[in-house]
Parts: sequence; structure tokens; C-alpha cells
Amino acid sequence: MASPATVGELTETLRQGGYLADRGLATALFVALSLNRPVLLEGEVGVGKTEVAKVMASVFGRKLIRLQCYEGIDTNQALYEWDYARQMLQIRALSERQLTDDTAVDTLFGPKFLLERPLLEAVRAGDRAVLLIDEVDRADDEFEAFLLEILADFQITIPEIGTIRAETPPLVVLTSNRTRELHDALKRRCIYHWVGYPSPEREVEIVMVRAPEASEALTRKVVAAVNRLRALELAKPPGVAETIDWVRTLDVVGASDLDAATVEDTMGAVVKERDDLELVRANLDGIVSGG
Ligand SMILES: Nc1ncnc2c1ncn2[C@@H]1O[C@H](COP(=O)(O)OP(=O)(O)OP(=O)(O)O)[C@@H](O)[C@H]1O
Ligand SMILES: [Mg+2]
Repeated sequence: MASPATVGELTETLRQGGYLADRGLATALFVALSLNRPVLLEGEVGVGKTEVAKVMASVFGRKLIRLQCYEGIDTNQALYEWDYARQMLQIRALSERQLTDDTAVDTLFGPKFLLERPLLEAVRAGDRAVLLIDEVDRADDEFEAFLLEILADFQITIPEIGTIRAETPPLVVLTSNRTRELHDALKRRCIYHWVGYPSPEREVEIVMVRAPEASEALTRKVVAAVNRLRALELAKPPGVAETIDWVRTLDVVGASDLDAATVEDTMGAVVKERDDLELVRANLDGIVSGG
């Protein structure tokens, strides 16, 4: 599908893909697409940061390439690696005389033995891809600096092969849960958007798209209860993902209403910390009735 002409058109396209974006998020994505800039989505847990990249890929018929960041991730895992096992087999298959031949060595470090990792794949795919760099805050500083370089010019030099360059960059979506501050340099390169909790009306809509089997009345009650949970000082406040899970849970156990007993029985779908559970138990009535 062609790039959207307006923010409204993008919002509508995302909606058809099952994602309800508010104006701010849709604008950030629209600008990112139009100006070929990476977009950095920071926000609470489970508010749809990762999902929006997946839906962008699916609605625009692009390939989703995901680089999941974690502590200790290094450039090999992100760019490319040589397939040592196959290189070894190849070496063993060569005779003494063939081995001293330069071309044999060149083949060993040729495209046939190169294992493409997400960033190289994304540079090759260019604008036929959405590159999701997920949870970038988990990677360390050096990796962030390295990412910055890649995002600056979308070219990768492999000494044995040469420089590979993206003619048109992919759409890049970075996400962060803000377990640490990202560097200004990275932020400066990106269009920034903070993804907060949706308004209750939007959250009801999201749940009805994602869990259409549940009744609207029950969905409304759950969203109201989740919003009250978010107002408690929980260590792990529930995201939209938990709201959806809770509605589905209530539906499978056949609950048609949300009373204190039902909350108590099913709250494992929304509250996942021992101390939080205690706190919720102490506030059950307020959570169901808003009192
Ligand atoms: N605006 C939305 N429209 C449709 N679905 C949504 C929306 N926001 C959240 N969701 C739903 O919430 C789920 C969780 O979203 P996602 O995994 O993208 O959250 P996240 O922000 O990446 O969370 P985490 O920080 O835990 O990685 C998605 O699978 C999706 O079903
Ligand atoms: Mg995520």
C-alpha cells in the first residue's frame, strides 16, 4: 500500500489493521514515514508500543524485521555473523592445494557464508520493511552508540564484502520502557512520542476490537476498574494488554458482571506482583464500585 497522504488516512488504515492510534501517535508515525525519520516510542508497559510496529508492517505490506534488545546484545547479533560451522566444513572439504589458493579463502568470506541479522536484513530490504528495535533501553551504551551510527546513514560495511547501503531507509520504530534514560544523540535523531494509557473510551474501543466476544457492558466495567487500579500505587500497574486479558478471562469463566468476588478470583490476569495483590485485596470494594 502507498504511504498515507494525511494523518487521518493513516489513523484509518491502522484502525483497519486493528490498531487504534490517538492523534499524537498517528502524527508521529506519519511524520516518521514522510520524512524518513526513526520514531522513538516510550511509555508504560503494555500500552501498544510493539504492536503498532507490527500493525504498520502488516497494513503497508512491509516485512517486519525485529531486533529485540537485551543486556549484553552485541553488534554480531544485530548485524551479521559468519557461519563458522559451514566454513569449517568447507575447509575440511578442500584439499591442501585448494586451501592455499586465494579464491578459496575469498569464497569462505563470501555471501554464501554470511548470516544476515536484523540490521543487515533491514538495510537490504530498505523501504519494503519496518524495522522494530524493541526495548532499546535494555541494551547498553555502546550498543546504543552503534545503533546511532547505523540509523545515521543506513549503510553497513563488511570488510570482506564491501559496503551495503539502503536506497530508501526502512521505517524504524524504536521502543523503550524507560528502565534507563536514552542518550540525547539518539533521541535527537528520532521523532519522539510518549505512549500513555488510552482514555477510558478509547480503551473500551481497543478491548472491543481485540476481545469482541465479551459484552460491551462488562468491558466498560473492566476498563473502569483497571483505571482505578492504575490510580493505586501499584508496583506494576496494568497496561492495555492486561485489560484485554482480564476481559477474556472473565469471558471464559462465564462472569457477566464484575463484583468483588469475581475480581478476587480473576485478578491474576491483571495484577502480577504479590504486594500489589495485597493492596488490591484491601481495596476490592473501591475497585468494583469506584467508591
Ligand atoms: N491502541 C491499541 N490498539 C489496539 N490494540 C492495542 C492498542 N494498545 C495496546 N493494544 C493491545 O495491547 C497488547 C500489548 O501491546 P504491546 O505488546 O504492543 O505493548 P508494549 O507497549 O510493547 O508493552 P511492553 O512495554 O510490555 O513491551 C497488544 O497485543 C494489543 O493487543
Ligand atoms: Mg513491547
